[in-house]
Amino acid sequence: MSTINNAPIVLTGDRPTGPLHLGHYAGSLQQRLRLQDEGYRCFVMIADMQAYTDNADNTAKIRNAIPQVVSDYLAIGLDPSRTTIFLQSAVPELAELTMLYMNFITVSRLERNPTIRDELKMREFERDIPSGFLCYPVSQAADITAFKATCVPVGDDQLPMIELAQEVARKINRAGGREILPTPKSLLSKVTRLPGIDGKAKASKSLGNAIFLSDSQKEVKDKVMAMYTDPNHIRVSDPGQVEGNVVFSYLDAFENDQEKVEDLKRRYRGGGLGDVTIKKELISSLERVMMPIRDQRAANDVDYKDIIRQGSKVAREAAVQTLAEVKDALGVFSI
Ligand code: TRP
Repeated sequence: MSTINNAPIVLTGDRPTGPLHLGHYAGSLQQRLRLQDEGYRCFVMIADMQAYTDNADNTAKIRNAIPQVVSDYLAIGLDPSRTTIFLQSAVPELAELTMLYMNFITVSRLERNPTIRDELKMREFERDIPSGFLCYPVSQAADITAFKATCVPVGDDQLPMIELAQEVARKINRAGGREILPTPKSLLSKVTRLPGIDGKAKASKSLGNAIFLSDSQKEVKDKVMAMYTDPNHIRVSDPGQVEGNVVFSYLDAFENDQEKVEDLKRRYRGGGLGDVTIKKELISSLERVMMPIRDQRAANDVDYKDIIRQGSKVAREAAVQTLAEVKDALGVFSI
C-alpha cells in the first residue's frame, strides 16, 4: 500500500459551490475528522477546477465559496497541521495529469458514466455539453492518483469516478511496466444522503433546503420548525409516519441516543406525539453538534488564503513527483 511515513494516504474533496451543510457533515466531514484523528495522511482538496466545469459563467459563486469552505473545514476541526487543505487550481500538475490521462479514456466511456448522465439531465445541458464537464471524472482520477491515495472517502454517487481512477492507474502502470500508481479504493460513509428540510431526496445549496454549518441558532430553529414531516399527521393524537419524515431522518443522523430516537418513533407511530415535540428534540440534538462548530469558528483567527497557500505548496510537491513518474512511464519527451 502506498503510504507517507507508514500512514495510508487519503484524498477527498468538495466542489466549492457554497457553504457546507449538515449533509456534508453527516456524509463525509465526520469521517474525515476520524481519519485525521486516526493518523491517516489526509489531503482535502477544494475542487475549484471541477466546480468551473459547470459554473464557467459564474466564477463569482466559486470565488465566494472558497473561503467559506475553508472556514467550514476549520470550524468542524480539520487541523491544517495534520490535514493538508489545498486548492485544486493551485496545483497545476493536476491539469497536466488530466491532459495525459484523457488520451487513455474514450468519449463513450465518459458518456456511459451514470453520475455524469444524471448530472447532465439535471443541468439540462442536452447536446451542449461542455467538454470540460464530460472530462471531469478524468481530472478526478488525476486528483486521486497525484497523491497516490489508496483511500477515497466518498458518497455512493462518486463510485463511478473511483472506478475510472482505478482504470487509469492500471493503464499507467501497464504502460510503465511497474506499479507507479496504487489502486485507489473508495471508503463509503455511513449516511450517504441526508434529505433536504423540504423532504426532497438531497439537501443541497441550490435547492435552498439545507441547514448550513454556518447557520445561527435561530436559523437552525426556524429551518427545523419548517421541516417536512408527515402531511397526514394532522392532530397530535393521529398516528404519524416515521418513514420519509425528515425530522426522524435527521434524528437518526445526529442524535447520539438512538434508544431515545426509537422511543420517539414508537410514540409517534402510535399517535399522541406532536410534530412540535419531535422538532424540539431535533433542535437540541442539532445544537449539540453545531454549538462546538460555532465556537471553533469564532475562535479561528486565521487568514484563509494563507491556509490554502501553505497546503497547496505541500500538495504540489507530491503532484510534481507523480507527474514526473507518469511522464517517465509513458515515455514522453521532456527537457
Ligand atoms: N466530485 C466530488 C464532489 O462533487 C469532489 C471531488 C473532486 C473529489 N475531486 C475529488 C472527491 C477526488 C474525491 C476525490 O463532491
